[in-house]
Amino acid sequence: MISVRLGTPLGAQHGPVGVLVYPVSADLPEPAPWSSPAEVAAEVAAFAAEVDDAGRPGRVATLPRPLRDPSRVLLVGVGAGDERGWRKAGAAIARAARDAVVSLQPPADFSEAALRGLAEGVWLGQYGFRIRDDKPGEAVKLQELVVLAAASPELERALETARVVAEHINFARDLTNTPSLTKTPSWFVEQVGGRDLPPGVSLTVREPAELAEEGFGGILAVGGGSARGPRLLEISYRPPTETAEHVVLIGKGITFDTGGIDIKPNDAMQLMRKDMGGAATVVAATLAAARLSLGVRITALTPLAENMLSGSSWRSGDVVRHYGGLTSEVHSTDAEGRVVLADALAYAVSKLEPSVLIDLGTLTGASRVALGKTTAALFSENDELAKALQDASIAAGESVWRMPLADEYMKEVAAEIADLNNAAGNPGAITAALYLREFAGPMRDRWAHIDMSAPSWSGENDGDVRKGATGWGVRTLVRWLSHLS
Ligand code: BES
Ligand code: MN
Ligand code: ZN
Repeated sequence: MISVRLGTPLGAQHGPVGVLVYPVSADLPEPAPWSSPAEVAAEVAAFAAEVDDAGRPGRVATLPRPLRDPSRVLLVGVGAGDERGWRKAGAAIARAARDAVVSLQPPADFSEAALRGLAEGVWLGQYGFRIRDDKPGEAVKLQELVVLAAASPELERALETARVVAEHINFARDLTNTPSLTKTPSWFVEQVGGRDLPPGVSLTVREPAELAEEGFGGILAVGGGSARGPRLLEISYRPPTETAEHVVLIGKGITFDTGGIDIKPNDAMQLMRKDMGGAATVVAATLAAARLSLGVRITALTPLAENMLSGSSWRSGDVVRHYGGLTSEVHSTDAEGRVVLADALAYAVSKLEPSVLIDLGTLTGASRVALGKTTAALFSENDELAKALQDASIAAGESVWRMPLADEYMKEVAAEIADLNNAAGNPGAITAALYLREFAGPMRDRWAHIDMSAPSWSGENDGDVRKGATGWGVRTLVRWLSHLS
């Protein structure tokens, strides 16, 4: 990772490729005392006044006059100067200042939130994923960012939090971007197990034989068509001091979604390696929370399966018996995510004694139709929980919108010969949520479901959001968890 630190530039003068950054919000900060020639400050102010919309978050303007020292002066917009604005600025700096040592002159009111946003932006904005023999990634090589502020314990802590969060978001992105020829359920487990795990974290992996023994019929049905068998990964984090709060996070981990026998057309299948984005998010959020020693107990469950078609595939009209005994009548083998989540929810409720239960996944195209490409759909009967998650998402700069668990559609979710219909149809995001609610059982009032089909992937580069997997939800979950602890 690029070094981001607080202090003064080494040797007090910039190196030959030194870049000086002035953030633009309402007021330009005082010039750095060593920024010679002294007229730089006046030039910067005059230039900023001329640039249209210079304060727009992530807007970069280069001072036209070539300078010897520093070699370049950039103005970067930070919007309202909140964390979100600084995050965009950080990403823009990472992209604009390739191969440079960058110094940033912070404003007088530079806060921990600003530093956190800035550093996250730099680390997220430099992310790239590519597979080439010669070049494993397209990561931008900003050499170093020095924030010209006196170090304080608060600022150092903000920087460390940003580092942990960004590192885990990029881990989630790597998992989700990896093609499914490589990404089997067991591969996913190995990626987690092969890491240097934080204190308090332990892993349990269930293979097909154990899944069968314990009755995880949903995961086995969905994974049955693939030669690469399903897994249930359970990550447990116990904080240094015992707490009453026990959060269970469940993430959909379909390592590839062909649709099964109800096969998807090519264009809809092309990107279905991303169908384990929910699993990547809960794993990354849990490991980040543990790395930050948050004071809340967490169990992450990721049901992992490849929805393939073959002679051993599940089929329409089948009845699947889930963990705990509820049954699903299969109306579409392409509505597989809820079927694996159902087992994990039922298991969590019956065995883990959670105080709160959240499931996340790329469940429906319908959620994107409803809310657009950057907003996730949030469902919960618990107003307080919904509000806390919404607040966390706002602070984190991620977008969720609450949708109704509209009971009038329960009659569609009921099935003919089994308990529930796995593909009750429109409104698609809502009927998926209603189906899942049944598996939260007695815990339905302390449960939330997040359909992140749209924001888990981006078709374009946009600041800290890079093309491909976004790692959506890690920041929201870590915020929310840190408020609980
Ligand atoms: N993984 C898909 C949902 C999806 C679609 C995620 C596009 C991201 C982008 C899911 O398994 C699926 O196929 N859902 C169906 C449900 C239907 C069969 C009830 C859908 O959305 O069409
Ligand atoms: Mn599907
Ligand atoms: Zn799917």
